[in-house]
Amino acid sequence: MKVIVCKDYDDMSKKASELVISNMIEKPQIKFGFATGSSPIGLYKNLIAAQKEGEISFKYAKSVNLDEYVGIDPANDQSYSYFMHENLFDHVNIKKENIHLPSAPEADDKYAKEYRKLLEDFGQRDIQILGLGVNGHIAFNEPADKLNKYASIVELEKSTIEANARFFESEEDVPKHALSMGLAEVFDARMIIVLANGKSKHEAVKRILNDESISTELPCGLLNLHPNVYLFVDEEAYNG
Ligand code: GLP
Repeated sequence: MKVIVCKDYDDMSKKASELVISNMIEKPQIKFGFATGSSPIGLYKNLIAAQKEGEISFKYAKSVNLDEYVGIDPANDQSYSYFMHENLFDHVNIKKENIHLPSAPEADDKYAKEYRKLLEDFGQRDIQILGLGVNGHIAFNEPADKLNKYASIVELEKSTIEANARFFESEEDVPKHALSMGLAEVFDARMIIVLANGKSKHEAVKRILNDESISTELPCGLLNLHPNVYLFVDEEAYNG
């Protein structure tokens, strides 16, 4: 794992976007796995600016998203689908048919199966963007005795519901289930870029960098097993 300690959120977003931009220039038909949350917003802003300046183009790019809440309408401003349009897709020249967003109107395994098939047909991602849950989750793979290999409907941990409540009117409004990429699918990406900023991520970052980080109780620690991970972390998340 390559660890890049950055001064603050802007510096983290800048350094991560430079890596993404150089990969996009090298391979215009790049395949992305995108993540939502507050961590990648700055990165997406920089990509929008780079396209405006003519440095990159999304004309041949393809994307698939990492996860989505169960039972949320894509038009709801808390859906990950809405987030992606608002923070990236509506501002770049990515083709509609090249955007893939998982969806599960209800907690039914058939939606997980559809998403598994979608990921299989999509093929290997060149870059997977990831944020970290405060409890060390990646996508919505929560700490547990066993982890899901493939896309599944998962139940959210209390700490995740609490952490994500800041985006909703109240904690009760946070969905209790999500459709999430599984670990084998996350790890299928050629390169993984992890973004972690702020004090709330310090514990997870510290545990990833600990020698005893390989445990299903710490999904993000398993990133140490992938050969091409870049962890962009700001000083607050690094030092606590
Ligand atoms: C959610 C998402 C994760 C994301 C995490 C971090 O739980 N399922 O994919 O990485 O939030 O969010 P934030 O970047 O807002 O801290």
